[in-house]
This record gives sequence, C-alpha cells and structure tokens, in this order.
Amino acid sequence: MLDARGAVVPAVIHWGADLGPLTDTQLDTLADSRVRVVGPSAADAPIRLGLVPLLSDGWTGLPALEGATLSLSEVESVDTGVRVTLTGVGMTLVVELLLDAHGVLHARNRLTNTDAEPWALASLATVLPLPPVAQERLDFTGVWAAERQPQRASIQHGTALRESRHGRNGHDDAYLTVAGTPGFGFRHGEVWAMHLGWSGDKRTWIDRSAVGLTTIAAGELLAPGEIRLAQGDEYVSPWVYAAWSDAGLDGLSSRFHGMFRSLPAHPSSSRPLTLNTWEAVYFEQDLARLGALADLAAGVGVERLVLDDGWMTGRTDDRRALGDWTVDPARWPDGLGPLIERVRGAGMQFGLWVEPEMVSLDSALAREHPDWVLGDTRSWRHQFVLDLANDAAREHVRDALLALLDEYPIDYLKWDMNRDQLGGWVHDQVLATYRLMDELRAAHPDLEIESCSSGGGRIDAGVLARAQRVWPSDTNDAHDRQAIMRFTSLLVPLEYLGAHVGSAPAHTTGRSQSLSFRFATALFGHAGIEWDLAAATPDELAALTVWATAYKQLRGLLHSGDIVRGDDVGDPIVTGVVAADRSEAVFVIACLETPRESVRLTRRLPGLDPAVEYRVSVVDVGATPATYAGIPPAWVAEGITLTGAVLGAVGLEPPLLQPDEALVVRLVALERS
Ligand code: DGJ
Repeated sequence: MLDARGAVVPAVIHWGADLGPLTDTQLDTLADSRVRVVGPSAADAPIRLGLVPLLSDGWTGLPALEGATLSLSEVESVDTGVRVTLTGVGMTLVVELLLDAHGVLHARNRLTNTDAEPWALASLATVLPLPPVAQERLDFTGVWAAERQPQRASIQHGTALRESRHGRNGHDDAYLTVAGTPGFGFRHGEVWAMHLGWSGDKRTWIDRSAVGLTTIAAGELLAPGEIRLAQGDEYVSPWVYAAWSDAGLDGLSSRFHGMFRSLPAHPSSSRPLTLNTWEAVYFEQDLARLGALADLAAGVGVERLVLDDGWMTGRTDDRRALGDWTVDPARWPDGLGPLIERVRGAGMQFGLWVEPEMVSLDSALAREHPDWVLGDTRSWRHQFVLDLANDAAREHVRDALLALLDEYPIDYLKWDMNRDQLGGWVHDQVLATYRLMDELRAAHPDLEIESCSSGGGRIDAGVLARAQRVWPSDTNDAHDRQAIMRFTSLLVPLEYLGAHVGSAPAHTTGRSQSLSFRFATALFGHAGIEWDLAAATPDELAALTVWATAYKQLRGLLHSGDIVRGDDVGDPIVTGVVAADRSEAVFVIACLETPRESVRLTRRLPGLDPAVEYRVSVVDVGATPATYAGIPPAWVAEGITLTGAVLGAVGLEPPLLQPDEALVVRLVALERS
C-alpha cells in the first residue's frame, strides 16, 4: 500500500496482510495514522521513509541511493502496479512497482543522468519497510558442495549486510533475505522476503535504526566507476522480488513458485530423466565408452543424456581449451554425430556442456585474441574470463555455439561458469551473458539451458528468465543434498532443481549411502543420474529402472504441486508436495541422524485437506530403506487411511529407519467426507 498523496515522494505504508476493502476515508485515515511521531533530539518534522530512502530526507539508515535529493514528478498506474517518476539534481529516477498474481512484488529502478556532466553511480537499491514484529532474520551462506546453508539471527540495531563480490552469486549467496516474527518456521509465522534477480555482484540487507524503523533491501553492488552515466544514459537495475506470507516459509515458496511457474521461459514439457556424464567419465571421452553408457542409460529409462566437459579440441583436463568450441578430432574423430545418433536413436534427448564466458590461456582463442581475456590476474581453475561485453568476442562465441547447434540436434546446454570474476566489469558481463543466452534461444527456441556454476554458484531469477534448470550443487552426497534441496526449493520450484543419483561412495565427500536414500533424495527435483553405469551391478541397474518409473509417475505432481515442509523439531525431516487441489500428495520422511530415542518420532504431514481421507502407501523407489531391528508400524506393509486433519495434527510414526535412510509415501484422496 503506497501513500502517493501530495507532492512528496510516495511511501510504502503497508506491505503484508490484505486489509480488506477500504473506503477512501478509511485509506486516508490509515495513511495519516502512519505519520510518525517526532522523538526527542530529532528533526522537527517526522521522518518519512519514502520509496527511495535518502539521507537528504533525514533517513540515517543505509540509503537506497547515495548523495541524492529527490522530489516527485509523477505517479502513474500501469498494468498491475505503479510507475513513480522522481527528479533530482541532474537525474531522473523511475521506480516501477508491479504486483503479480501470486502476490510477489516486482520492483525496479531506472536512473537517467540529465546533467551535461557524466557521473558515476555508486549504489541504487530497493528498500522496503519492515514492521516491528519482524524480529528475526534468515539468509543463506555456503561453500562449494554445501550451498544455501541457512543462518538465522535476531534483528538488532545496525545493518546486517550481505554482499556478493564474486562476479556471480557465489556459493555463499545470501539467496533470499527473510525477516519474520520470532521463531517463524516453514508453516508458521509472518515473514517478509526479498530476492534480487541478478547473477552478478549484489547487496542485500536488513537495517534496524534507533529511530525505530526497520528496512529490508536489495540491489546490485557496483564497483567504483563501473557505471558511468553520460548525459541521457540510463541505468536499469535488476528486478527485486519481494513477498510476504503469514504462513511461514512455505507461504513464501508458494508465492515465488507461482511466479517462476508463470515465466515464459518456465519449462513446459515433462522434465526428462537425465544422465550427466561428468562423474561417470570426467575427461575420459570416446565413442565406445560414451556409446555404451548411452545404451545403459536408455535401458534404465533415461530420457536425456548430457555430455559434460571434455569434448572440445584439446580439452583433456581443466587446464586448457576453454574458448575453443569445436569438437576434439582426437577423441571424436567422426564428430559428435555418431554418439548423438545413438542417443537419439534410443529415444533420448542430447545435451552438451559449455562454459561460454570463460577462456583458458592455453587455447587457440586466447592466442588469437589475447585482448579478449579480461585482466584479472588471479587464475582460477586455470581459467580466465572472456570479455563478452566486447561485441566481437560475444559474437565469436555465439557463432561457434550456433555452429554446433546448427550442425547437431542439441536439445540442451549445460551452461557452466567455474570461477569468480574479480574485476570492475561484472555488470556489463552479466548483461552480455544474458544476451548471449537470449540470442541462442532466439535462434533455437526449443533449446533448454541449465545454469551451473561450479555447482550451485548461479541460481537467481535473472538467469531463470532464460534457463530451464539449475544445478544446485556439485555434491551428489544424498545427506548433504537433503539440506541443499530443502533450502534451494524455498525460492525455486523443484522442476528446476537438478537432483542426481550418484555412485557410492559419493565423489565429493567419500561417504557411502544406500541406494534407497540416494533414490528418495534425487526424486524430489528434476531427477537424473551421475554414475558410470558400466560399473553398476545388474541389481543396481534393475533398481534404477524401478526408480526411473517411480520418477516418471510422480513428476507431474512433484513439478506442479505446493511444496510443504514439516516443522516438527529435529530428525526425521519431512518434505512433501501436495497437489493444488489437494487430491494427492507425495512425502519423503528422511532420517539424517542416529536416533536419540529407540523409535523414530511421529512426524506430521502438513498441507493436506483436513476434511479428506487419504490412502497412504509406501512408494517403491527401487530399493528398501534399511531399518533397525524391531517391529515396523503396520501401515508400512498394509497402507493406512487417515484424514488430512489427523495426518496434519497427529501424524505418522515412521519405521525404524537407520541414519541416512528415507521413506517415500504417496497419499491419494478418497472421496470427500
Ligand atoms: C563444474 C560443474 O558443476 C560440474 O557439474 C561439471 O560440469 C564440471 N564443472 C565440468 O568441468
């Protein structure tokens, strides 16, 4: 609710619960009641937290824009929101606020230099007020192979600032900034959240000021001098996405998932069961080995094979050949055609790994165009950043990739990006990368793109305006994956989240987990396999076939329903997907710890229709989870019929699952009572 009365900069006066229909008089009274009192030792006029909080308006918290004074020029109703035009000395700032059908606010700033003198933009963010009941904050951190670890703290005076200076989101990406009522959980509490749709440097913060105001904010982080605006130049910020819910974090997921599912680029087809070749063969590529792998993959029910890193000329390890996007004649003497024919002949799609933003110094590209290698002196995985903001460089890579897409029927690009960009060029580079993706998809409209960045280093709504999948992490260790998927899916729906069954032991952690746990974990996402199937036993291949069938039966529900997560404290943890009409659901009950009691504790299954009876049965995922000795609950063998009210308020007692085991259950509604 925006108070846009009078000639002052409009102010957000309420962002939260629906206040019902209000008369003009009631609206006026509400807006008047939001005028703050003047405290002791303060400016004589009340502080007004305008749409663009500025020091010049008396705002002493972190400002939206440094060093500006703004006054209102115009407020226009547009589409599903408003466009506010503000004017300052030498600048015009247009703030766009759109509320989508899912209750997500899309906010963007467009700043134009109207001065004859060029000037550098230091920062520009979207800042929204938080009410005093927001006492606790949540955001995310992480490292390679352990992305999106939640961290919570109480909101105190001062600024809780998270920045990415990686030139990409990074493994420690704050991802989603959340504030809420004390103790908010997945299913309870009032929460406010912000996400920046941008794949470069960024800042997001929660600021509580001693003047009694709290703000939540996000914006692009700009390097000194990175954005220099000449007269008439415009800086267009990335979109900020903000949502509120009084139903905890699941309520936020519901809104954000609705938003992602409405994107034009949202994948429209069933998410094909995928085999990615990376952990199967690494750089050891040839037709005999990959052809045999493709045959085995087709045999277990794989629908898309992705040839990972190692197919390009001279790319025998990670020290060379990035930038040379031609097929290696040494390992692929007849090109990729014979493999692709085998893959497609077996009814599978074909995907190819690329890393278009990067260049190895040991490459024909770097030797021919050393000036296209950006001047970041720190080598990182032996590679450097290619200056895609240079049109000639971008067009070179684009044409090389288009040549591949024209020559071969390639359905999918796994688009990797394996280093930080430690320079002041990130803004232009991110836009050039988006442009390159858009150009390829414009030429090949059915082409799908996966956003991968050393695992989960680039997941955001900016890249997802043009990508159909993300790779949440390089770890296929199912124990660590449980948490990564739980929190990555807070923002992004499961159909985008690659989830692969790896071999045991896991290549990242060296830990071994049972097939049943690896199966159950990889089911809740866009499922795939990352395993040299030539080394799998006949029993394992048979089990994979059953699992593949289960995925295909469940994916319609998994990729369209509402994600729900149990709030019951401790282990086991419960994650489910409930159909929009609540006629069916699938849950996974996962045990990550050694039990502290001699039984596994009863778990509630949330999100169901309380008035409906559900038939609960165990899903055969291809392998049976290991249990401790004892007598399992009868429902595991026989199934059970309980109402949604009982399942939500009382729950089910799980079997005596060993640590790192999980049970998948399916619920089908019987007739409504
Ligand atoms: C990092 C990715 O996250 C992996 O999945 C794999 O594609 C390698 N790069 C290949 O170099």
